[in-house]
Amino acid sequence: MTLTTTNFETIAAREGEFQLATYKKMPIAAVRGRGAWIETSEGERYLDLYGGHAVAATGHCHPHVVEAIRAQAGELLFYSNLVYSEVRARAAEKLVSCAPEGITKAFFCNSGTEANENAMRMARMRTGRENVITFTGGFHGRTADAISATFLGKYRELGRPNVPGHLCAEFGSIASVAALADENVAAVLLEPIQSMAGVRQAQSEFYYLLRELCDERGMMLIYDEVQTGVGRTGEWFFAGSAAGARVVPDIITLAKALGSGVPVGACLTTDTVAAHIKENDLGTTFGGGMLAMAAVNATLEAIEGDGMLENARTLEGYLRESLKGMPGVARVRGAGLLVGIEFADEIAAKVHGALLDERIITGTSSDAHVLRLLPPLCLKREEVDLFVEALKRIL
Ligand SMILES: Cc1ncc(COP(=O)(O)O)c(C=O)c1O
Repeated sequence: MTLTTTNFETIAAREGEFQLATYKKMPIAAVRGRGAWIETSEGERYLDLYGGHAVAATGHCHPHVVEAIRAQAGELLFYSNLVYSEVRARAAEKLVSCAPEGITKAFFCNSGTEANENAMRMARMRTGRENVITFTGGFHGRTADAISATFLGKYRELGRPNVPGHLCAEFGSIASVAALADENVAAVLLEPIQSMAGVRQAQSEFYYLLRELCDERGMMLIYDEVQTGVGRTGEWFFAGSAAGARVVPDIITLAKALGSGVPVGACLTTDTVAAHIKENDLGTTFGGGMLAMAAVNATLEAIEGDGMLENARTLEGYLRESLKGMPGVARVRGAGLLVGIEFADEIAAKVHGALLDERIITGTSSDAHVLRLLPPLCLKREEVDLFVEALKRIL
């Protein structure tokens, strides 16, 4: 049967009837997108500064990405890792070439939570130990091991009974990590910038000291770059960046922006870790499928070809400048186009709603003071102006 309904009320009622209500939704039905804009079932245009949970880094329907997916769909949609594939070989090579020195191998999966599950498993295989240290305010996904590693809000509770061996340190405090880091700890896993917690970043010294501590005590350092990776911060990765004291972790996990919306996740790692992973130790049916790999290649090419890393850095500066001195804005957090606007009061949800009324999509966070922006990296100055003018009116 074909779905013939087109207006918002009917679409919303149908979803409400046939889909589990697990998300608080905005009252719009998205139909098509171009760049930083979404068009709705009612023909209205919304400026999208949220990118569908940080996924649309190349913008909606980037022509190069769309063309690559179309072309691959006509050749071969999928075959598993039981065969070699040129498009997969190119994706792995390209991804590794974007990563900081020392990162040499990719493992493909399908989502962020799965990337984190595999990363923890890789660390356990490398060290022969079981425990994992994560942090207050961190979010790592909703499957069993990843949700057990998530100490933000109530998520961990949702995953009960939790996987044992997960320890919680204070984000930004090296002493709290050192106190937990005994000979049973396989890895320290962190979001280098905690996005859902309200775009929280540590002092660059923290990352440096973490690397030192991990080396000293034989623990693997894992960066969950599901949000910060693939250009979001104006660098390919937070790993290796100046803001992170040039620290290179042992494993980087990715998803979200990596396929511009085609589901794909990845773990990137070193030769040393790879030496401990044997045939059949890790796997997933869909990981490395041709359609996803075509999306990865085209995403990386689009970011590079359109100078999006530089654009993210330039527009971060422009946005910070435009928000300077705005009444009600206490601070602007984050890096590149992972932005947390901290208000003096707990008004982020209200501002989010008011912006939506002005047809601008933004995100909230677990901190009621902080509005989050995760826009496409192809955002334009005039789009920043639209947002800043609307925010000024609202505040
Ligand atoms: C930092 C971080 N890690 C992991 C995940 C889980 O990713 P996924 O929803 O693709 O499983 C998310 C999702 O929001 C995330 O923000």
